[in-house]
Amino acid sequence: MKKQIVLYKKLSPLLMARLHEHTDVTLIDNLDADGLSRLRDALPRAQGLLGASLKLDAGLLDLAPNLEAIASVSVGVDNYDIDYLTERRILLSNTPDVLTETTADTGFALILATARRVVELANLVRDGQWTRNIGPAHFGTDVHGKTLGIIGMGRIGEALAQRGHFGFGMPVIYHSHSPKPAVEQRFDAQYRRLPDLLQQADFVCLTLPLTAETEGLIGAEQFAQMRPEAIFINISRGKVVNETALIQALRDKQIRAAGLDVFEREPLNADSPLLQLNNVVATPHMGSATHETREAMAACAVDNLLSALAGERPKNLVNVRAWKG
Ligand code: DGY
Repeated sequence: MKKQIVLYKKLSPLLMARLHEHTDVTLIDNLDADGLSRLRDALPRAQGLLGASLKLDAGLLDLAPNLEAIASVSVGVDNYDIDYLTERRILLSNTPDVLTETTADTGFALILATARRVVELANLVRDGQWTRNIGPAHFGTDVHGKTLGIIGMGRIGEALAQRGHFGFGMPVIYHSHSPKPAVEQRFDAQYRRLPDLLQQADFVCLTLPLTAETEGLIGAEQFAQMRPEAIFINISRGKVVNETALIQALRDKQIRAAGLDVFEREPLNADSPLLQLNNVVATPHMGSATHETREAMAACAVDNLLSALAGERPKNLVNVRAWKG
């Protein structure tokens, strides 16, 4: 008999066909109030779940006594209570690797957009304000040759370092759990303690996951350590940063600018003070959002789910302790 799965994200026809071949699919293609109520109704029979951008806490998952596996279409797994899943031996998988380069591209887009004031100046042209040559009041700051500071030297951190080092001749400094000699060799990068990185970097880029340890890692004290020329980039998770402290640092010109793809609350409220600030470039959590990468992530999640439901260890198993082996 085919296993029952609940998809809370619409996939391409190709991937839908693949899932239909092996499983009985219930599709919830919209997570509005009606969709959430249909999800609750479907959970009691679900053996597998596949989707993204939904906090799947114990309150919801207690409704799914038959659940064997969740395939998240994301690299970040902060929407899941991993201890709870492990206790219930529910296999959680994610989609690393396939989004690394695209997310690093987004990081670099934000670096360039903030330093060269791309959005602000493009809006000036669009608004018919380009009436004479722009002068120093509209100049930006160089990216090439500046010091790139990366906090969290995982796959995406490395891909950012590669762009900075080889593409823009930037000295790379980084902070992570422990020094990474291979990274240092490849990108001529240097390990720093967090306060030292904050004091030395021209670009302070967050690429680390949200965990109990990293929540609120960057607050008023850390912004105070940054240089007034520093540009802050966040492509990890909004909750790694105290957003009130960030807004204050931008208002007080403790830092020059911020490029933000992620926020404490998403979607970002249209009346957020961040959107009043000219030196903020805000994008809608689009780190991995290209057609190619989102399809590759979905395909990876489908593979993970089908493996798990077939009793095989999924390639990207997150909670390895849940695997009975
Ligand atoms: C990820 O894959 O974690 C992206 O940030 C989308 O949530």
